[in-house]
Amino acid sequence: MGLKTLLLVPLLTVLEGGLADGHHPGRSMPGSPYNISQDDSGLQQVVLDAAYRYNNQSNDAFLFRASAIHRAQRQIVKGVRYIVDFDISRTVCRKRDNSNLSNCDFQPVGRLHQTFQCHIELWTIPWLNETVTQVFLCKP
Ligand SMILES: *[C@@H]1O[C@H](CO)[C@@H](O)[C@H](O)[C@H]1NC(C)=O
Ligand SMILES: *[C@@H]1O[C@H](CO)[C@@H](O)[C@H](O)[C@H]1NC(C)=O
Ligand SMILES: *[C@@H]1O[C@H](CO)[C@@H](O)[C@H](O)[C@H]1NC(C)=O
Ligand SMILES: *[C@@H]1O[C@H](CO)[C@@H](O)[C@H](O)[C@H]1NC(C)=O
Repeated sequence: MGLKTLLLVPLLTVLEGGLADGHHPGRSMPGSPYNISQDDSGLQQVVLDAAYRYNNQSNDAFLFRASAIHRAQRQIVKGVRYIVDFDISRTVCRKRDNSNLSNCDFQPVGRLHQTFQCHIELWTIPWLNETVTQVFLCKP
């Protein structure tokens, strides 16, 4: 993988959703973020959904999935906010094969081996059944 390839990888920025009442989390958030376990089921879902979204938006022939979680935090603020730093790596599964992502092995070290660092901030409001992705960025 040369530098050229790396530069061609899209920087993903996703901002979607939005609350009908126009509230946004500001600096005056009541609860502070606290670390949560990597095994947390809510966290696992956030990371899996992020991988699906990454794959949907990338031009890569292969699927990527999370390979490491470096920071996992939750914040209680009018719902639940997740702040996660994780790595996403290329798997051996081709997109066109519609594989179950959870079962895809990572590429072995070599030409196709590649990892990006992602940061996501996601806010869920369970009683409104709403999820707002505030930040989602992946970079080499
Ligand atoms: C994938 O992206 C397309 C357009 O880019 C969008 O219409 C579609 O809903 C997305 N699918 C998922 C599962 O996010
Ligand atoms: C929270 O996790 C981060 C990253 O793993 C770590 O650097 C930090 O020390 C942890 N903070 C607490 C209070 O445990
Ligand atoms: C994918 O595989 C995992 C683990 O084997 C399983 O828990 C999950 O239900 C599967 N998902 C789909 C959509 O088949
Ligand atoms: C929340 O959304 C999910 C998925 O869109 C849907 O299956 C579920 O019925 C909804 N629940 C409520 C309470 O609206």
